[in-house]
Amino acid sequence: MDILVIGAGGREHAICWSLAKSPKAGTIYCAPGNAGIGELAELVPIQVNEFDKLAAFAEEKRIGLVVVGPDDPLADGIVDVFEAKKIPVFGPRKNAAHIEGSKTFMKDLLKKYNIPTAAYEKFDNYEQALAYLQSRPVPIVIKADGLAAGKGVTVAFTRDEAETALKNIMIDKVFGESGSQVVIEEFLEGQEMSILAFVNGETVRPMAAAQDHKQVYDGDKGPNTGGMGTYSPLPHIADSIIEEAIETIIKPTAKAMVAEGRPFHGVLFAGLMIAPDGKPKTIEFNARFGDPETQVVLPRLKSDLLDIFLAAVNGTLDQAEIEWSDEAAVCVVLASGGYPASYPKGLPIRGLDEAKAAGALVFHAGTARGKCGELVTNGGRVLGVVGLGKTIAEARDKAYEAAGSIAFEGKHQRTDIAAKALV
Ligand code: AMP
Ligand code: GLY
Repeated sequence: MDILVIGAGGREHAICWSLAKSPKAGTIYCAPGNAGIGELAELVPIQVNEFDKLAAFAEEKRIGLVVVGPDDPLADGIVDVFEAKKIPVFGPRKNAAHIEGSKTFMKDLLKKYNIPTAAYEKFDNYEQALAYLQSRPVPIVIKADGLAAGKGVTVAFTRDEAETALKNIMIDKVFGESGSQVVIEEFLEGQEMSILAFVNGETVRPMAAAQDHKQVYDGDKGPNTGGMGTYSPLPHIADSIIEEAIETIIKPTAKAMVAEGRPFHGVLFAGLMIAPDGKPKTIEFNARFGDPETQVVLPRLKSDLLDIFLAAVNGTLDQAEIEWSDEAAVCVVLASGGYPASYPKGLPIRGLDEAKAAGALVFHAGTARGKCGELVTNGGRVLGVVGLGKTIAEARDKAYEAAGSIAFEGKHQRTDIAAKALV
């Protein structure tokens, strides 16, 4: 069966890599993909927001399954376009992707169904929002309602920071219409955890849990990014806590979406905070695979990813074989100097063969081929280097050793990925 994967990041590289292991997989196409994906898939020069062109391509090539990676096309209804043309597609429809596309929708849904999340108020009026903000203690969290490329959330530790964030969102409209509503929410203390699940209506099949590192610098300092590194499993978090999060948050949310007439099909990704007392609460829901969570989760999948996707599309997800290996995986992201602010592109990358020889998986994110076919940087997050091992410590050593052999001008990486799991 020929497959079309939509997206261009490390997540899509990991999805293509995992699909390529399936004996049922024919040609894998990726639109638009990147240099690394081009080594195992045929790249298609169509952008992720060109729905009609993507659907025409899928029809012409008689694609048996489309898999959508990124949030923006999902929120804009790409799945509905494929479904209307009877092209099998794995991902949520527009009305279900709304759980990521609107934070006010997500918060109201969780409140209505008594699903644990931070206390909040929502506003579409700046003066009222400011008055509420001034009545609350800091730290406090300010969130633009809509998608904002991962930058719409400010965890404010001072009043100044909080008021500036509110003004940026509602008055200066730095995130455009995404900021016409705002959520002001209680600050939650604790450890973050990501749980992704394959979901088909009320059927929930969780994946291995992972932890991301959002801030750009060591010690969780500096601005938030898309994610600077991940690891899985989480040896310092009890299985009972993960189980509680699945039972009290993810399953009830899938059920609530069905009850609301917005059944979710695809990957539902819960960003959770585990309070010091061990209780998980929801920070956010995403309607897709995480990036770079996917880069550590899929290498631990022992089952056939294509079979799982097909089971989800055919309504037999409850019977799909989904087994995880005991192996540990650690992903270290190599970013361009300056990321998440502005950064240069087109810089030559060296040392990939050495990294692979050291036994690491290297997933490409922002990479491209230069004029002479050489590998060059082409984005903020450039590569994700994944080490596998019997323990997190072993996987981590492998990832860092391999990451050390890769060079490009201005390369930045955190040195403390998975450190929390070692203490
Ligand atoms: P989000 O885009 O909603 O995932 O938020 C980005 C990051 O902000 C999260 O990964 C958390 O680190 C942090 N964050 C969001 N909401 C809260 C909260 N209520 N309390 C503490 N930190 C939060
Ligand atoms: N790594 C976080 C995300 O994919 O949203």
